[in-house]
Amino acid sequence: MSTLKAVRGTRDLLPPETELWNHVESTARRIFARYNFGEIRTPIFEDTTLFARGIGEETDVVSKEMYTWEDRARAASEKAQSLTLRPENTAGVVRAYIEHKLGETGLLQKLFYIGPQFRRERPQKGRYRQFFQIGAEVIGPATAGSESPLRDAEVLEMLAAFLLELGLPPANAVAPGWRLAINSVGSAADRPRYVAALREALREIAPTMCEDCQRRADTNPLRVLDCKVPEDQPKIDALPKIADYLDDASTAHFTAVRAALDACGMAYTVNPRLVRGLDYYTRTTFEFTHDAGLGTQNALLGGGRYDGLSEMLGGPRAPGIGFAIGADRLVLTLQSQAAGSAVGSKADVFIAPVGDAQNPAALKLAQELRAQGMRVEVGDGTFRVKKSFEVADKLARKIVLLGEDEVASGVLTVKDFASGEQRKMTQVELLATAR
Ligand code: HAM
Repeated sequence: MSTLKAVRGTRDLLPPETELWNHVESTARRIFARYNFGEIRTPIFEDTTLFARGIGEETDVVSKEMYTWEDRARAASEKAQSLTLRPENTAGVVRAYIEHKLGETGLLQKLFYIGPQFRRERPQKGRYRQFFQIGAEVIGPATAGSESPLRDAEVLEMLAAFLLELGLPPANAVAPGWRLAINSVGSAADRPRYVAALREALREIAPTMCEDCQRRADTNPLRVLDCKVPEDQPKIDALPKIADYLDDASTAHFTAVRAALDACGMAYTVNPRLVRGLDYYTRTTFEFTHDAGLGTQNALLGGGRYDGLSEMLGGPRAPGIGFAIGADRLVLTLQSQAAGSAVGSKADVFIAPVGDAQNPAALKLAQELRAQGMRVEVGDGTFRVKKSFEVADKLARKIVLLGEDEVASGVLTVKDFASGEQRKMTQVELLATAR
């Protein structure tokens, strides 16, 4: 019989790697809490229309990468519905914002999420079909300040603080690190003028470009800028730049974002081609890349403003900004740095019962040590002492030998693998060594 494996593009996460994942996630929770974000959990599948409308029919995500199925009606009263595994979480968060009338509080909603997303992409290092995002969104009525450029800068500064807390500093002249690129893709008012200019410029060159570009030149010219085909790149670089089409309000917004970033010492470059692959973006867009450990999939995270998304989904006006970090890529980056190696440590002690008869006492000792916060492994009385030592050395920093004498006297025999020292001690003394 052939053995079954995880589906292509999906994978199992195992210890000790999962310890690093938990470290990343708990760091995100701790840092985001400082900025007063609360957690939101939205469903993993949604009505397909949400993504088609929110992300845009012509994006790669919607046109090529979604896991969509027709959910059969189970009763005459039910209609068949097209459902999709979420390829990202922003559309779901904004749907929830509208559905629960969160705007009626009159306050900014600051929501973060951690969870799996699904895209049928070509799998490679750092690119999976089930991947994990840690994301956050700031959304609310304009009267709550949701349009303020300060929100954009604050979110970027929070990301820098989060990465630094994980031991990932920005790149500098000598050392690799993360790099922040920002851009403004203009408002709904700027966009038609830019798109008209793009369409005009593409009229002549599109027939010489790839099939996707030829189609998009007609249906959604902005998406031509997402093209990855190498031969098309010089042609795309020569296309009109969005910066030349921003109106005064969008220019002022971008200038103010930059001033706030400068004030808190954040380094960034402006990349005029950074339009990002989702249709909902307006004004600020950004991406953090990392120099080390990621290869070609070096986008660690991305985000931007989406001032019209709520209306696109039938909701009230609710400007917003947010980001999503590729957690898989963040973990890969940490693993390639010394920062990741501190995690994945061993248990404090391995309790080795000597002889079957000591098994119950071993479990009782483990129970007591664990109740005091120690990380404990228990062997088995059938193991020869030599085998207990071998296993303990792999799993724990110390071995506790529990023979008949130790059980009777309450004095334990403990060996510390790092120092090689073996001595007798009480349970209380053992606990003190772990503190
Ligand atoms: P995105 O750029 O499509 O944006 O994805 C954000 C991050 O998710 C990427 O930078 C990357 O690190 C990671 N990612 C994307 N696809 C994959 C994949 N197949 N395998 C592994 N990692 C992947 C969004 O999803 C927006 N919702 C971000 C946002 C939030 N914008 C505003 N608010």
